[in-house]
Amino acid sequence: MNPNQIIPKTPNTTLSIPPPATIGIIGGGQLGRMLAIEAKKLGYYVRIFDPQRNAPAAQVADEAYIGHFDDLELIQKFAQGCHVITYEFENISTRPLCDLVEKGVRVSPSPDVLAIAQNREKEKNFLKSNGFPCADFLILNNVTELSIAANDFPFPACLKSSEFGYDGKGQVRLEKEFDAVEAWKKMGGKKGILERWIDFSAELSVICARWQDGRTVAFGAIENLHRNHILDTSISPGRFSPEIAQKAENLAIEIAHHLRVVGLLTVEMFLEPSGKLLVNELAPRPHNSGHFTFDACFCSQFEQHIRAICNLPPGSVEQFRPAVMVNLLGDFWHQEKSPNWIELLNEPCLKLHLYGKDQPRTGRKMGHFTILGYNLDHAIKKTNTARKILGLPSIT
Ligand SMILES: Nc1ncnc2c1ncn2[C@@H]1O[C@H](COP(=O)(O)OP(=O)(O)O)[C@@H](O)[C@H]1O
Ligand SMILES: [Mg+2]
Repeated sequence: MNPNQIIPKTPNTTLSIPPPATIGIIGGGQLGRMLAIEAKKLGYYVRIFDPQRNAPAAQVADEAYIGHFDDLELIQKFAQGCHVITYEFENISTRPLCDLVEKGVRVSPSPDVLAIAQNREKEKNFLKSNGFPCADFLILNNVTELSIAANDFPFPACLKSSEFGYDGKGQVRLEKEFDAVEAWKKMGGKKGILERWIDFSAELSVICARWQDGRTVAFGAIENLHRNHILDTSISPGRFSPEIAQKAENLAIEIAHHLRVVGLLTVEMFLEPSGKLLVNELAPRPHNSGHFTFDACFCSQFEQHIRAICNLPPGSVEQFRPAVMVNLLGDFWHQEKSPNWIELLNEPCLKLHLYGKDQPRTGRKMGHFTILGYNLDHAIKKTNTARKILGLPSIT
């Protein structure tokens, strides 16, 4: 156990929490793992909460609490002795987090921010009511409302579940003619959002960090390529005009201020052919599109999050070289056999990250690699050589 176990009665979020304090991370996936690695590098003591004993983050943390996210008693125990609690994914109930805040535990980003980011209806209403641009949408309470929407909503459209969606799960693209009952069933949620289908010219994300006193730092706009609604590749710097990149950065920072986030906020956006940016999603945590920062930036998104929630000074977001990150999904493990890592590692500027997951299911994020180049063309060329080894189509 860490000897530094002091919990303030009311969370004073302006106090700094220097190492070797204890950081509690709810969620033990790859984001938690990379957060834990960076926290350990800084000398923190790391405690993970996850239902799975051998979760990716539990493998690298000092301690793991194994239990369900709705086990209030265990979450309380877990929080005892943590100087700050954060989370690595949105699909957890805000109730236990609110309880912790009431008891004086510091939780960053706050449960209020999580409540908005984890629910598409709240997220869209937040964006709309604060004048942030997003795709036209309709909130649907039931399948009948979907049938009625078919009359005047513009199609194609995207039907998404209000809650628990990730990596394209709970999403259905709808053409003009569709079977409402079937679509609703496929979407699988209790409530839904019908969203205009965006023929974007690009997808991008901006990851920014905000401190309690309002300071912010942002990584430059990242270009994201998806396959089957799952992130496939991220390119940084994204291939946008300086004006678009700046506009995207400003938009993300403005949203972070509106939400009063303490920690990271990732803003996913669509770029329309007209040059207009539309906000797609918000995530108050490290983001898959920012994995390249681990190897390509002075201070990674994970370290930046730790610095912000512990109120340490911001780190530099400087990127050493152009970078491309490719997700390694379970699809590449044929009959459970790993891809040929040695062949992949023949490229000396390729950094391989495997998350320690044992079941390589289709669509499951098992790892990623990042390639650095002297320029972006060089990085993309080398990426395509690596993609060929995995049987992936080239990117252009
Ligand atoms: N309205 C839309 N128009 C076009 N493509 C979309 C739309 N909504 C989602 N997509 C595609 O699906 C991907 C995943 O959707 P998103 O809303 O970000 O959900 P999640 O990442 O939580 O699964 C997006 O990054 C984009 O590629
Ligand atoms: Mg998304």
